[in-house]
Amino acid sequence: MDYLTLALPTGRTSKQAIALLEKSGIVFPDFQNNSRKLVMYDETNSIKLILVKTADLLTYVEKGAADIGIIGKDTIMEMQPDVYELVDLDLGKCDVVVAGFPDTVISKDVPLTVATKYPMITKAFFDEKGLRTDIIKLNGSIELAPLIGLSDVIVDIVETGTTLKENGLVVLDTIVAISTRLIVNKASFATKTSKVEGFIQRVKGILEGSQ
Ligand code: PRP
Repeated sequence: MDYLTLALPTGRTSKQAIALLEKSGIVFPDFQNNSRKLVMYDETNSIKLILVKTADLLTYVEKGAADIGIIGKDTIMEMQPDVYELVDLDLGKCDVVVAGFPDTVISKDVPLTVATKYPMITKAFFDEKGLRTDIIKLNGSIELAPLIGLSDVIVDIVETGTTLKENGLVVLDTIVAISTRLIVNKASFATKTSKVEGFIQRVKGILEGSQ
């Protein structure tokens, strides 16, 4: 069977994306059953689902191990992958922000220490402002860094604002609003055009219907 391979990141994005796909009739029974399988199938529509870590998803799509991927714009901006970004799924809406203590002083006179999962986005933002930075790459719990004096501020995503609030931090500046995107491997788009376009049209149909 010639499947279309779809990569989803584990975590909250996968649940939102699966709910969206379900509305368009694409269903993975193993996912509903909370299976720990990493490969699942929608046999009716010949779609193979693989579940991968967010940080690895672009590698799978870029190298063609997956034809299609669903991932946040934050990761796309950070990694600049060589793929087509074709649909804004209008899910996972949040902001990439600079956050810190309310009394943080940001000055051109001293370098600012910034902890983040997004060193490229961070560097581009502060370079543009003419501010010098010392960027520390972390992989999670970014809010901890200013609390224990590892950094002056952080650059991270904010959805509800709860994590910042509960840790006594505030948004100091907003860098960009982001959402979840559908991306496609370039070779897959050329060789499996009708299948890929069929998938995209189904998803777009649901998005247009819900507006
Ligand atoms: C993300 C992000 C913030 C939090 C923001 O972390 O890095 O910590 O969510 O959400 P909120 O504004 O709704 O509180 P995630 O849950 O992905 O875990 P991580 O810290 O391991 O990256």
